[in-house]
Amino acid sequence: MSLASIAIPAVAQGQPVPVIGLATGVNLLTGERPARKNINDLQAAGGPAWDLYILGLSEMQNASESDPLSYFQIAGIHGRPFIPWNGVENTTAAPFNGFCPHGNTPFTAWHRPFMALYEQTLGDHVQVLASQYNDSSSAAYKAAAESFRAPFWDWAADYRLPASVMEQLITVNGPHGTVDIPNPLYSYRWQQFPLSSDPNYFPEDGRTDCYGWNETKRQPDSNGKDQYNIVNGNLAGIAGLKDAVYRVFTAAKAYETMASTEDQGPSFENLHNDVHQAISTIMAWSDYSAFDPIFFLHHANVDRLFAMWQAINYNNTYQTQSRAMGELFHTGKTVAAMATFGYTYPEIDDWSLSREGTRKAVITQVNQLYGNGANGTSSSAQQRRGGRANRSLRLRHRQQQQQQQQQDHATKEYFAQISVERAELQLPCTIFVMLGDDKAGQMSLLSMPMSGTTHAEVPLTRALGRVLASDTAAAPATSAASAIKNNALISDAKFVASTLSQLFRVEIRKADGSTIPVDSVPSLSIQVESRDVVAASRIEEFPKYGAATRLPGVGLGKLARRDADTRLR
Ligand SMILES: *[C@@H]1O[C@H](CO)[C@@H](O)[C@H](O)[C@H]1NC(C)=O
Ligand SMILES: *[C@@H]1O[C@H](CO)[C@@H](O)[C@H](O)[C@H]1NC(C)=O
Ligand SMILES: *[C@@H]1O[C@H](CO)[C@@H](O)[C@H](O)[C@H]1NC(C)=O
Ligand SMILES: *[C@@H]1O[C@H](CO)[C@@H](O)[C@H](O)[C@H]1NC(C)=O
Ligand SMILES: *[C@@H]1O[C@H](CO)[C@@H](O)[C@H](O)[C@H]1NC(C)=O
Repeated sequence: MSLASIAIPAVAQGQPVPVIGLATGVNLLTGERPARKNINDLQAAGGPAWDLYILGLSEMQNASESDPLSYFQIAGIHGRPFIPWNGVENTTAAPFNGFCPHGNTPFTAWHRPFMALYEQTLGDHVQVLASQYNDSSSAAYKAAAESFRAPFWDWAADYRLPASVMEQLITVNGPHGTVDIPNPLYSYRWQQFPLSSDPNYFPEDGRTDCYGWNETKRQPDSNGKDQYNIVNGNLAGIAGLKDAVYRVFTAAKAYETMASTEDQGPSFENLHNDVHQAISTIMAWSDYSAFDPIFFLHHANVDRLFAMWQAINYNNTYQTQSRAMGELFHTGKTVAAMATFGYTYPEIDDWSLSREGTRKAVITQVNQLYGNGANGTSSSAQQRRGGRANRSLRLRHRQQQQQQQQQDHATKEYFAQISVERAELQLPCTIFVMLGDDKAGQMSLLSMPMSGTTHAEVPLTRALGRVLASDTAAAPATSAASAIKNNALISDAKFVASTLSQLFRVEIRKADGSTIPVDSVPSLSIQVESRDVVAASRIEEFPKYGAATRLPGVGLGKLARRDADTRLR
């Protein structure tokens, strides 16, 4: 899909639509760019920026579905309807009928320009709207339009759906006064309903909650009412979304690992999949998902996590391995810099700081937003710092400090490494790692692609803490004593292995809640491993993980079966 119209201009109504994001508000001398903001902050601040965003999105959704720059057509690039957009056909690089290459590394290369196209289209509406305010507020609206960028939803910091997406009507200040309008974040309202059931459009294939309502839905009841308690419950149930995001930042050193479920280890794509699945209905299906307006809040956040990772790993900002599925017209390299598309995020200043300075500033933000406890650092290590010693004394001090720190702060963390061949599953579905009845973590598999091996890493430490705490809660001990006891138990890998061998189990569920028998999926492999973790001594550093040690007798697959055989002998 040539979203790389920077390189290859696509044609809409005879006019090229270059995908360059927004240029408004960019300081060409310094490189400073407006930030995409957190949706909850944008709403709390209210005023012109909020009014223009809501009205602009409403206008974009109201644009005729036959207009290439309508919400319908732009969202439609991601999947259905399977028709050319802007003169561009689907390609072998996006091998299912839609356009978006989920499940392989061009994921970023594809979604970054897709977001930019959405943002520049929305930005054009915002500019025109801002010019229509004629009263004393007109300057404030023009200024807000200059720095307009599409907001993000940070589901790792706060998993709950933003309040702004759940209200059917919304009140904003328009150019001619206050208006109550259908909330464009609540749903997209199909302009032609019933939808075309042409096979390339929205065929009646049993997914009635996708095409059966006159607007997009999220887990609707039989009357079409969205059930947000269920959606928020699903999101809450993605145990450790925050821990998992932190783990990608701190542990994924290769671009490919960070980006994609095609590689082993922690990836943002896996968490991205979990959030799609948790919202369910439209969002659960790759070919429909972009029609739900929350898609663009979600994808702005995924892009933000990528951008933060890139700022931290500034020598390694795009995919280098070549992939079977190849690249689209765009390459990872041409989309590696946000500056190409004229935006940044609140956490990233890459114009006034050196690359090393940006790296440290972003690590600090990651520690504060997603780290565990004292902003990701250990307070006793901080106290030991400082003093105006000479160089060798400082060096010796640092060595002592590190040794001390290792003794004080080496804790253990536990992870499940999962891999599975998608072709053996009925997609979409979710693999839950359970400790007894506790959902410890999950791996969501979207409807596309339909085959290929997919990997995920699921952090288990927090769930283990919960399970141990509920055990010790039964015993008469003070909470401080039981916390110490839990810490000691968590550090004892043998004890954890024996606990897990009793509690560990796996459930696979389809979107409708029905289960897929685990033994019908022979490729499913789950290994549980422990790693020593040494906390960082500074807020601008990350904790360090030791090598992985596999826990014997826990998990699924070849190695787990070999353990079982060994025990029997
Ligand atoms: C979009 O259409 C709805 C009616 O369907 C209307 O209430 C709303 O004001 C329109 N939005 C804008 C920004 O004009
Ligand atoms: C593009 O989509 C059409 C219509 O669904 C399909 O027939 C064709 O095989 C697709 N082409 C590629 C290269 O995937
Ligand atoms: C959508 O359907 C509901 C009933 O399910 C109806 O109340 C509403 O007016 C319809 N909206 C539009 C825009 O047709
Ligand atoms: C990036 O590469 C340079 C040159 O090899 C090196 O000095 C620097 O430490 C590297 N930075 C990171 C964050 O890896
Ligand atoms: C952690 O971050 C918060 C919020 O930024 C800050 O108020 C607090 O002082 C920090 N704590 C430490 C120990 O650095």
